[in-house]
Amino acid sequence: MNIVPETAPFSREQRAWLNGFLAASLFDRLGALPSKVAPSGSQPPAPPRCLWVGYGSQSGSASGLARKLAKSAESKGFVVTVRELNQITQEELAAQERLLVVTSTWGDGEPPDNASAFWSRLSEESAPRLESLRYSVLGLGDRNYADFCGAARRIDERLAALGAGCLVARAECDGGDQTPFAAWADAVWLSLATKSAASATEVSVIPVPGPVTAWVTAQESEVAPPACLWTRRNPYPARLRMARRLNGAGSAKDTRHIELVLGDSSLAYEVGDALGVQPSNDPALVAEVVDALGLGSMGSESLGTPVLEDSVSLQEALMTRWILTQPSPALLKRLAERAPGSLLAGLLESSRRSDLESWLMGRDVVDALKAAPGARIEVAELGSLMRPLSPRLYSIASSLKAYPGEVHLTVGTVRYEAHGRSRHGVASCWLADRVVPGETPVPVFVQVSRHFRPPTDSSRPIIMVGPGTGIAPFRAFLQERRAIGAPGKNWLFFGDQRHSSDYLYASELDPLHRDGFLTRLDLAFSRDQESKVYVQDRMREQSQALWQWLEEGAHFYVCGDARRMAKDVEEALRTVIQTAGGRSEDQALEYLETLQSEGRYQKDVY
Ligand SMILES: Cc1cc2nc3c(=O)[nH]c(=O)nc-3n(C[C@H](O)[C@H](O)[C@H](O)COP(=O)(O)OP(=O)(O)OC[C@H]3O[C@@H](n4cnc5c(N)ncnc54)[C@H](O)[C@@H]3O)c2cc1C
Ligand SMILES: Cc1cc2nc3c(=O)[nH]c(=O)nc-3n(C[C@H](O)[C@H](O)[C@H](O)COP(=O)(O)O)c2cc1C
Repeated sequence: MNIVPETAPFSREQRAWLNGFLAASLFDRLGALPSKVAPSGSQPPAPPRCLWVGYGSQSGSASGLARKLAKSAESKGFVVTVRELNQITQEELAAQERLLVVTSTWGDGEPPDNASAFWSRLSEESAPRLESLRYSVLGLGDRNYADFCGAARRIDERLAALGAGCLVARAECDGGDQTPFAAWADAVWLSLATKSAASATEVSVIPVPGPVTAWVTAQESEVAPPACLWTRRNPYPARLRMARRLNGAGSAKDTRHIELVLGDSSLAYEVGDALGVQPSNDPALVAEVVDALGLGSMGSESLGTPVLEDSVSLQEALMTRWILTQPSPALLKRLAERAPGSLLAGLLESSRRSDLESWLMGRDVVDALKAAPGARIEVAELGSLMRPLSPRLYSIASSLKAYPGEVHLTVGTVRYEAHGRSRHGVASCWLADRVVPGETPVPVFVQVSRHFRPPTDSSRPIIMVGPGTGIAPFRAFLQERRAIGAPGKNWLFFGDQRHSSDYLYASELDPLHRDGFLTRLDLAFSRDQESKVYVQDRMREQSQALWQWLEEGAHFYVCGDARRMAKDVEEALRTVIQTAGGRSEDQALEYLETLQSEGRYQKDVY
C-alpha cells in the first residue's frame, strides 16, 4: 500500500518502512487489523464494526453515560459515532446496523429537547423500516414522575415496531441511581459479541488499540468534567450565609436570595450549572406522621428503632431519608389491604384510577394514613413502604469569578393550603425557614448542565428570557460575562407580578442597564395594568430588534416555568421569526431547529 507520495523526500527504504508503518496504524484505527488477525492467505479482513450511540439529555446525565458507553465500546473495538438523537437523520438511522440509545425523560413524560425532533421523525407514519438495525435503549428517569422513563419506553417500542431487532431489553435508571447502567452495558456487549460470532459476515469483538471516535454534537464540550469529590451520593455540607427575601411588602410571593458558603470544599461549578440540595423534612410534619402512625409523641422510644442500613433510626429516616409529602404507591396499597372498607381502599379499585389521582393532589402521608382508619403499619415494614427523599435542583445564580467560594440561588418558596392544612415545599421552605445561617449543614452537589452555557465566543450577543426564579442563571451569566470582559451584547427579558414588589434583583439589574453592560432590559409585570403582560408579549413587541440580534448570531436562552412560560416563549420566538424574518411557518420551525442544533437556543426549564 502506497500512502507516502513518490515525490516525498525519502529514500526507497525509508518510504517502504513509512508505508508499512502508516498502513498498520491506519488499519488499527479502523479496527480491521488485516495483518494482525488474518494470516496471509486467509479470509479478507473484516470490515470495521460501527456502532452508533444516540443520546437525549437535558441536564447532562444521559450524555455522560453515553460518553462512558462510547469509551467502553471503543475498548471493545467498535468504531463509535456519538450523536444527540436530534442529529440522527431518518436516512442514517435506516442505514445503521447497531444503535444504542441513552435518553432521559422530561416535562410530563416528554423526550429532552435534543431528542424531541428525533422522536417526531420516528413517530411519523412515513418513518422508514429499520429491519437492518439492532438496538438497545437505556432510560433515565425518576419514579416520582407519573410517566417513569416514558420517552425511553416510547422510543424502544417504536424502534421495535419499525422492525429493528432488540439486542437487550431496555434498562431504566431511577432518580440519579445509575447502577443499572453497568449491567445493561455488559449485556449489550455480550449480545453484540454473541450475535456477531453467529453471523457469517462479522467477526467477534476484537480489542483494537486507538480506535476512531466521531463526536458529533453541537451543544456540548467534548472534554469530560473533572471528577468531583462531592456528588449526589456524597454531598458537601455547605453553610448558609443568608436567605434574604427578594419580594417587597405586599407581594403574593416569597422568593429568596440564598447564599451558601463552600468553605474549603473546592466545589467548583460553571455558570449554567444547577446545585443539588438534599433537604430535611419539616419537624412539624414528622410529628404529625408519628402521631398518625400511632407511635405516640416525638419523644417515644420507638423513634430510636433502626429502620435502615447503618442503624439509621426511625426518627432520622423520617427527618432526612423519606418523602412525607407524597404517599408511595406501596404504602397506599398496604393501607388499603389493611383497611378494606376504607375511603382509600375504594379509591384503589382499578376502575377509579383518575379519582385516585385527583384525590392524591396536595395530599401527604398523614392524609393517606387518615384515609385508612384502623390500618396498622409496623415500624419494621416502613422501610419498604416509603420512598427516598430526593435532592432538589436549583439553577445557580452566581459566578465563581464574581463570588469565589460561594454559590447563590434564587428560590421560590412553595406554600399553599390544601384539604384544611397548610403545606410547605420540602426544600424551599427548609432553606427559607429552618436552616440556621452558619450552623445547619446544607448538603449540596453540582449538577453539571452542559447544555446550558453562555457562548464560548464571548463576542456573541445573548438574549435571556428569565421571568420569576428564571432570572437565576442569567444573574450568573451577567456576572461571568462582566468578569471576563465579554464584548458581546446582553439582552434580558424579566417579568413577574408587580414592579413595586416583585422586580427581583432590581438593585443589580438597573445599574447594569444604566451603564450599558446590560444592553437591553425589557420588563413585563403582569398585574400592574388591567390586561396581563408577560415576557412573551414583550418579545413580540420587539420583533424587529430580536430578529436582528438572532441574525447577528445571538444565542437565545430561556429559564423558568416549563409548563406554560417556556412553551409561550417558544411560540413567541416562532412568531418573531415569521413576522420580522419573513419566514413561513415551516421555515420558522426549521430556523428554530437549526438554532437548537447549533446550541444557540438553550433551555433550563422546570
Ligand atoms: C434544573 C432545575 C432547576 C431549577 N431551578 C430552580 C430555581 O432556580 N429556583 C426555584 O425556586 N426552583 C427551581 N427548580 C425547582 C426546584 O427544584 C423545586 O422543585 C422547587 O423548589 C420545589 O421544591 P420543594 O421541595 O420546595 O417543594 P416540594 O415539596 O417538592 O413540593 C412541590 C410540589 O407541591 C405541589 N404543589 C405546589 N403547589 C401546589 C398547590 N397549590 N396545590 C397542590 N399541590 C401543589 C406540586 O406537586 C409541586 O410539585 C428547579 C428545578 C430544576 C429541575
Ligand atoms: C422538570 C423535570 C421533569 C421530569 N420529568 C420526568 C418524567 O416525566 N418522567 C421521568 O421518568 N423522569 C422525569 N424527570 C427526571 C429526569 O429524567 C432525570 O432527572 C434524569 O436523570 C435527567 O437526565 P438528563 O440529565 O440526562 O436529562 C424529570 C426531571 C425534571 C427536572
